[in-house]
Amino acid sequence: MKKVILDVDTGIDDALAISYAVAQPDVELLGITTSYGMAPVEYTCRNTKHILNVLNKDVPVYGGAATPRKRTRVYNGRIHGKDGLGNTLGAVNENDKCKLDAVDFIIESTKKYNHDLTIITTGPLTNLARAINCAPEVMHSVGRIVTMGGAVATPGNASKFAEANILIDPESADFVFKSKLPITLVGLDVTRKTLLTQDDVEKWKQFRTSSADFFVDFTQFYLNAYKKIHPYLKGCALHDPLAVGVAIYPEIVHTVPMNLEVDLSEEALGRTVENLNIELNEKPNVDVCFQVDSKTFMEDFFTKVDYLLSI
Ligand code: BDR
Ligand code: CA
Repeated sequence: MKKVILDVDTGIDDALAISYAVAQPDVELLGITTSYGMAPVEYTCRNTKHILNVLNKDVPVYGGAATPRKRTRVYNGRIHGKDGLGNTLGAVNENDKCKLDAVDFIIESTKKYNHDLTIITTGPLTNLARAINCAPEVMHSVGRIVTMGGAVATPGNASKFAEANILIDPESADFVFKSKLPITLVGLDVTRKTLLTQDDVEKWKQFRTSSADFFVDFTQFYLNAYKKIHPYLKGCALHDPLAVGVAIYPEIVHTVPMNLEVDLSEEALGRTVENLNIELNEKPNVDVCFQVDSKTFMEDFFTKVDYLLSI
């Protein structure tokens, strides 16, 4: 069994990633850590617990960072809704808060399982940066970090150059890359090639289960947002589920090792770029995904998630 921690900012495609992860027979999901990102942390925490509840899965959920390392996060709810789940759940209340600490859990789990542990991140890298900052030696024993983030040879989605998870907290992302942990970057270079379509949602409607109905509601919000922003795309990107797919089936992507950093200048803030200063003689720090076997991934995603939503 592969031991996994999922670090999320739930978010619609994070919710799809959670469902895909809990549907994997060979994965032991030790816990899900949350941070602010697509919504404030109390929302992402509540959303995560709600998704697990709807799917009838018992996985501990930990609350983490509420703000980026140096910047202020402004939420617009354009793609994921104001509550992070397509405005299906509305405002949070006191009971929704996560009482367990995400950064402690990441460090303690890495100490316990070291090379056997994979951490998948599908939100800003703030929790992970904090864990590395607090316990660098422990964190260096982690097996692999698979991160949904970045846009290396393709335009950004949160600015001309930058992908959202990196732009939200560029300082943490740069710190994580430079920490030299074993990172696989699943960026827009590949996630834009894995699209969920209106037909997929129509299929879920036929299941007539309460879980499928709920997934239809929030996924439709995401599809509608994509139709407005990218009218020529055939669907909405499965960014975060692909990170889960790559962690479990690394053979579905082709990666290139690069010495990657995050542009921290205001002109190209959050851009993931290769450091070409070869005099530094630095070894590559990130395996960047450039090609994906979308067909294999999509088949596995829908086989597992369809089953989960149909029972
Ligand atoms: C990333 O940003 C969020 O909108 C998604 O959940 C994904 O993690 C894509 O850029
Ligand atoms: Ca996300």
